[in-house]
Amino acid sequence: MKNKIIKPKTLKPGDTIGILGGGQLGRMLGMAAAKLGLRTIVLEPNVDCPAAQACNRHIIAEYDEPTALGELVNACAAVTYEFENIPASAVQYLEEHVALLPNSVALEKSQDRLTEKNFLNDIGIDTAPYYEVNSLEELQSVVMSPDFQQNLAGILKTRRLGYDGKGQARVHGTDSPKQLLEAWESTGKVTCVLEGFVNFIREISVIAARDINGNVECYDPAENIHRDGILHTSTVPAKVSNAVVENAKSIAAKILSELDYVGVMGVEFFVTGEGSLIVNEFAPRVHNSGHWTEAACTVNQFEQHIRAISGMKLGDPSRHSDCVMVNLIGSDVDKLDSLLAEPNVQIHLYGKSIAKKGRKMGHFTRIS
Ligand SMILES: Nc1ncnc2c1ncn2[C@@H]1O[C@H](COP(=O)(O)OP(=O)(O)O)[C@@H](O)[C@H]1O
Ligand SMILES: [Mg+2]
Repeated sequence: MKNKIIKPKTLKPGDTIGILGGGQLGRMLGMAAAKLGLRTIVLEPNVDCPAAQACNRHIIAEYDEPTALGELVNACAAVTYEFENIPASAVQYLEEHVALLPNSVALEKSQDRLTEKNFLNDIGIDTAPYYEVNSLEELQSVVMSPDFQQNLAGILKTRRLGYDGKGQARVHGTDSPKQLLEAWESTGKVTCVLEGFVNFIREISVIAARDINGNVECYDPAENIHRDGILHTSTVPAKVSNAVVENAKSIAAKILSELDYVGVMGVEFFVTGEGSLIVNEFAPRVHNSGHWTEAACTVNQFEQHIRAISGMKLGDPSRHSDCVMVNLIGSDVDKLDSLLAEPNVQIHLYGKSIAKKGRKMGHFTRIS
């Protein structure tokens, strides 16, 4: 049986929030907390991480280092995180010693693509068809099954630790044994799910927030375009009907409520030609496809998350402008001068020193 979990409480200005993970999402959470008069401590092993530049204190240690976790819980009134792959031992320690928000159930479900899809289907939410794959032999037999042969294409994804399209390989019903072997090897030969390919017409996402009293607020869906598996642009409003907008928000709200979730979550959907919605995945944290809220809403997703986990009233998620958010990946950041010259553009850089290929260096949002 689980030990007692610490319940959330209302924070006051001057209180401290702990953040696990030192990337750009942690950085933006730190900035939002500061605006509400709260202090932040980031726990992150990388010395010069984006979040440390914007938080009050940086504990440089592995996420599961017991002394570091002890220091964090002693100093913080609540702890949150900016990525979902937190080691299980750290999660258990944290939730027994401090209010950990969002809760460990949301982490457990979203850390593993199989558990995530099982959960969604159990609560009546549609996903792509999927099959558990634990070996090359299982991959071969799933691909040969009449069920998969009807769809004829799919994506093999590692159950854990995949992001930005990493750990994924395309699979076809007509693939030769050699091609299947290559797909299996490219994922690192770890436990996977094989998902049926969804012929979507667009991808959208909803950023939803739930407070400690169970109130839910959703931002308008963004329409997302990916390049090489990485989010390229988020455009709001998405080109979908009002019915799709309302349906996407209500599915997101259902996920949060079923998890007794507190904080902001990003829910990714495929929209089919018939206008039905299939949930691709959800992330128990602020989300790249919600960065547009900084420029187009009075209360952005970062402040919304801090409000939720601090027991404060949620902000109004309505939008004052239409917008497009564009990620600056690798050398895209060299466009800075021309972006600075444009009116109606809000720029956000993450303080990363080296612009490696595929690395998210910043983003900008153009409002209209
Ligand atoms: N079952 C699928 N059918 C069609 N496209 C997919 C499917 N799964 C993923 N994709 C495409 O790949 C992208 C990345 O996949 P996703 O599961 O969201 O992984 P990540 O965790 O890397 O974001 C999606 O945004 C979508 O464009
Ligand atoms: Mg995704």
